[in-house]
Amino acid sequence: MVGKVYLVGAGPGDVDLLTLKAYRLIASAEIVVYDRLVSDDILALIPAGARCIDVGKQASRHPVPQDKINEILVALGLAGDRVVRLKGGDPFLFGRGGEEAFALAAAGIAFEVVPGITTAQGCAASCNVPLTHRGVASGLRFITGHCRGDAALDFDWHGLADPSTTLVVYMGLANIGEIADRLIGHGRDPATPVMAVSNATRADEKRLATSLAAVTRDAETAGLESPTIFIIGEVVNVAEVLNGGAEIYAQSLMAAAE
Ligand SMILES: C[S@@+](CC[C@H](N)C(=O)[O-])C[C@H]1O[C@@H](n2cnc3c(N)ncnc32)[C@H](O)[C@@H]1O
Repeated sequence: MVGKVYLVGAGPGDVDLLTLKAYRLIASAEIVVYDRLVSDDILALIPAGARCIDVGKQASRHPVPQDKINEILVALGLAGDRVVRLKGGDPFLFGRGGEEAFALAAAGIAFEVVPGITTAQGCAASCNVPLTHRGVASGLRFITGHCRGDAALDFDWHGLADPSTTLVVYMGLANIGEIADRLIGHGRDPATPVMAVSNATRADEKRLATSLAAVTRDAETAGLESPTIFIIGEVVNVAEVLNGGAEIYAQSLMAAAE
């Protein structure tokens, strides 16, 4: 009998941000295949007797290659197992969930995707940064700061520099300098506020409020480490207001929203 694989989003780290469906699957799991970004608090929900396969790192400390992960999932599915494939954030957002779903479908194994809170949402909530805000940001774009095989960041920089767009950069720590330069080079104001957040929604969450012009230097000075996400845009100033500062700016935000 062929098994079933659940591609489950674990969210950015805080256990309370799991969906009920994810929680139930994790708490009753017999086999869990998990990534590096799944928090210890969430791994602690796995029943003691369950078999856990860590594909976030192997003996050499490198992650298990994606095709090998696909093979593991297919082999477990063909063996008739009910597998919880646990991934940070949402499986379909920079999570390679599509590739795993393809491999399972090709092997005739049933799968189901359980969405997770993506890091941008968890981080926005914990930092009080609304990702859109009337009169301030009418659109939102998620981009990766790192392309396959270190390929060039060949994006629509003109569109990304649109001041009414909030930009969220995943996997951007190594290339944030180039990203900031490209945005400024395409007309985005160097004073555009930036919020960088490491370990978002976890006990050791670290935040840095800076600007596009200063983000590279400030991220280095602050010693930000992976995982870090960057929110770029005027909405970051809303957080300053909601967190108790910048009264004058609050008035202009309210006026803009009217
Ligand atoms: C491979 S992507 C996975 C994204 C994930 N599927 C999601 O929906 O959030 C990994 C990147 O997500 C971001 N990330 C994941 N968890 C994070 C966290 N708790 N705090 C900050 N950034 C995080 C970082 O930019 C990291 O490099």
